Amino acid sequence: MNFLALETSCDETSAAVFTDELKVLSNVVASQTSLHARFGGVVPEVAAREHLRQILPVVDEALRRAGVGIHEIGCIAVHNTPGLVGALLIGLSAAKGLAAALDVPLIGVNHIHAHIYAARLAAGRDIFPCVGLVVSGGHTALFDCSDAVTYKLMGTTRDDAAGEAFDKVATILGLGFPGGPALDRAATGNPKAHKFPRSYLEAGCLDFSFSGLKTAVLYAVQGHDRANTTPPTGTSLADFAASFQEAVVDVLVTRCGEALDRTGTIRLAVGGGVSANRRLRTALQAMCERRGAELFLPPMEYCTDNAAMAALAVEHYRRGQFAGDDLDAIPYVI
Ligand code: KG4
Ligand code: ZN
Repeated sequence: MNFLALETSCDETSAAVFTDELKVLSNVVASQTSLHARFGGVVPEVAAREHLRQILPVVDEALRRAGVGIHEIGCIAVHNTPGLVGALLIGLSAAKGLAAALDVPLIGVNHIHAHIYAARLAAGRDIFPCVGLVVSGGHTALFDCSDAVTYKLMGTTRDDAAGEAFDKVATILGLGFPGGPALDRAATGNPKAHKFPRSYLEAGCLDFSFSGLKTAVLYAVQGHDRANTTPPTGTSLADFAASFQEAVVDVLVTRCGEALDRTGTIRLAVGGGVSANRRLRTALQAMCERRGAELFLPPMEYCTDNAAMAALAVEHYRRGQFAGDDLDAIPYVI
């Protein structure tokens, strides 16, 4: 049986077709990044309007690439939480309309859980039970995932998400928006050049906090050249970027190790755009090797926002977990 899934939670309009055996037939993503770049961040109203313009063409393209007709779709899946509410509503309304018109079931999928399920999809085999880390522009969260549909939150960010910190520091360093990838490329300097704070909060707590680190970078950059407001360049830029990146990676890797200890699990699944970061990937790999744990890092197309990761709907379908007409868009994390 074929599923059609929709994703419109932030600034990517995506539709995917996959089978009930988790074979992905298409995964089309229309990115709005360039539209928001001049504002230095995602503008919710602009995102919603662009989703409205893109959603049906993206669905058509996903069906065309999959070689599947609309009447060969047996179930509609949609990310209905969390995200920008206006953006979520576009995907949700389209999904409800399609499910009603085709007279097929509708399944609501949690976008954050789906980021972890992307690792299962890419692995092509069971990865549960595992610890799941989601690091994206909007979220930083650690989960105890006892099976494919049970995600217990172990820790989350108290302020900025990891990707948000990367983007804001990239702006401070004059690298543009969204600057995560540019900061990754710029981080060729000495990671010990600046002693930036690692925030571990209270003992025993697995929450994250990145806003203090961001402010520390801002002050260090201003102190570095107070008279001149131009951002650092050359070795100075490389050292700032490497030192900031190392501080974020240190905290994320330490927290993942603690979560593995606490759950007694030997599998770690990672998702979200920041998992593209090269230093984070090697540091997580090294930590897992030291512990004899298995690391599941999906390829980039499954790390950033996409509709194929809503294949988590297949698990809900198997368990008879369907949504009614009253399925709502919920912006906050549930
Ligand atoms: O998962 P994602 O595509 O969208 C959200 O749901 O937020 O994540 C986007 C985030 C942005 O903050 C971006 O700067 C960050 O992921 N990012 C990176 C890298 N590639 C993307 N951060 C650090 N290093 C990278 N290589
Ligand atoms: Zn996401």
